[in-house]
Amino acid sequence: MRVVSAAELADHRSSKSCWVVLHGAVYDLTSFLPHHPGGARAILTRAGKDATKEFDALHAPGTLEEAFPPGDQNVLGTFVAAEADGGNIPAPATAAAATTEIKESPADMINLNDFEKHAERTLSEKAWAYYFSASDDMRTKIYNNEIFARVLFRPRVFRDVGTVDTTSALLRVKTTLPVFVCPAALARLAHDDGEKAIARAAGRHGVLQMISNNASLTYTDIVSARVRDDQPFAFQLYVQNDRKKSEKQLAEVVRAGCVAVVLTLDAPAPGKRELDERVARAEARASGFEEEDESEPLSASSGLGGKERAAGGGIGKTLFQGTAADLVWPDLIWLRDQLAPSVKIILKGLQTVEDVVLASQQTHPRTHAQLVDGVLLSNHGGRALEGASPPLLLLAELRKYAPQTFSKLEVYIDGGIRRGTDVVKALCLGATQVGIGRPALFALAGGFGADGVYRAIQILREEIETAMRLLGVTSLDQLGLKYVNTTQLDMLLGPDPIQLEKDSEAFAKARL
Ligand code: FNR
Repeated sequence: MRVVSAAELADHRSSKSCWVVLHGAVYDLTSFLPHHPGGARAILTRAGKDATKEFDALHAPGTLEEAFPPGDQNVLGTFVAAEADGGNIPAPATAAAATTEIKESPADMINLNDFEKHAERTLSEKAWAYYFSASDDMRTKIYNNEIFARVLFRPRVFRDVGTVDTTSALLRVKTTLPVFVCPAALARLAHDDGEKAIARAAGRHGVLQMISNNASLTYTDIVSARVRDDQPFAFQLYVQNDRKKSEKQLAEVVRAGCVAVVLTLDAPAPGKRELDERVARAEARASGFEEEDESEPLSASSGLGGKERAAGGGIGKTLFQGTAADLVWPDLIWLRDQLAPSVKIILKGLQTVEDVVLASQQTHPRTHAQLVDGVLLSNHGGRALEGASPPLLLLAELRKYAPQTFSKLEVYIDGGIRRGTDVVKALCLGATQVGIGRPALFALAGGFGADGVYRAIQILREEIETAMRLLGVTSLDQLGLKYVNTTQLDMLLGPDPIQLEKDSEAFAKARL
């Protein structure tokens, strides 16, 4: 293979001729530009540069080999930073991975908000924007957390709380805490070990990790980082337009071991995450490719024209390419048929009582078995529909209007959970377990990796134990409505769905 110099590389920085260095090899990506699922701009901003770090953070291992098999004519040669070039490999305008030196240790973190502040200081601008961002004005994200303050405790005294037991179970899988790690994409933007680091920490604690469909490592890779043979994992699925692709993925996941498939339903389209989009634009502007990209041809998969794509941008939108927006309830039968009988189904992103009731009623036409085993009430951490109910409120509505569902399936919530007291409140209202999303990603940052995530979960553990002691309970099954005053939350409850349906019909008739 021939050697390409930095000077030669620098001559190929346009959509007419676009060369990029990945893992020491030089690729001619010119003809690939219109086909890149993440859009041409993502490549053009790195043209003539070494994009290895950014590439690795955003793509699963094997992606490059799949796109460019050995002998592919677009692999031009090796890049050697020759002495004549001053040994300089040009780097992209914005590095994706964290670069700041470690100044603090996980032990310095006292609560989960400390991890967030530490991540803001240490993550690249791009990673921070992707993780922190939420839809529109971020009101839903903020409200998810603030609503926990509306529930007050009713602590009991004169109880022996010397020993407290936080053990729990999710679909019969035993865990040491009623907390799981939510599926979240691209953990390698925060740390090279990415989801593997989360796997190690979750395993050491004995909690379940849900692995994102858009993880930055393959499911098999992540699961291989397990610290115990029986460490539980669930796989989060975004059904692809190309169903065969999802079927292949599910077969691999089942083979690698998986207690549940978590089907995410709250994002049939990506939310408008402005922080994420702003950084993508700024990056394009800095690299001088903004103008050129606006005249890029249509991408086959996006359905958006060049101008619209340039205006959209952001990692969130990029990841969404190929995700099916046409799912309907009968698709659950297809999903069930892909899975071994032992693998459970959890629906993630349910946002109304009506949909939880519908979920509990779905059965397989052949076996008549119930299709859904658990529901995760979630609005995607405020990243999908701005203005959706906070999951804690929906939990209270479910408890009031459809309490029977709790005997048919397990109910979990996520969104804004940052304190042990938040966890305990959710359990008092009927949740089996709760999930944390951003905190696990933030805990990886600044070089913390698995130790950071371990510490974050440890903090939650200690806070949960303290809350239980101060509340006067010694095990999670004692928690219930009698330990909380929900008057302020009850004032926000939505209408009874059955009455709402009647009212809507009556109004529709009256208007005719
Ligand atoms: C997410 N979430 C998410 N959900 C999902 O089903 N699949 C995914 O790939 C992702 N990716 C993702 C990336 C990032 C950066 C974030 C912040 C979130 C949503 C996630 O599972 C969870 O619902 C929320 O993060 C919970 O809210 P908190 O804990 O972040 O407030």
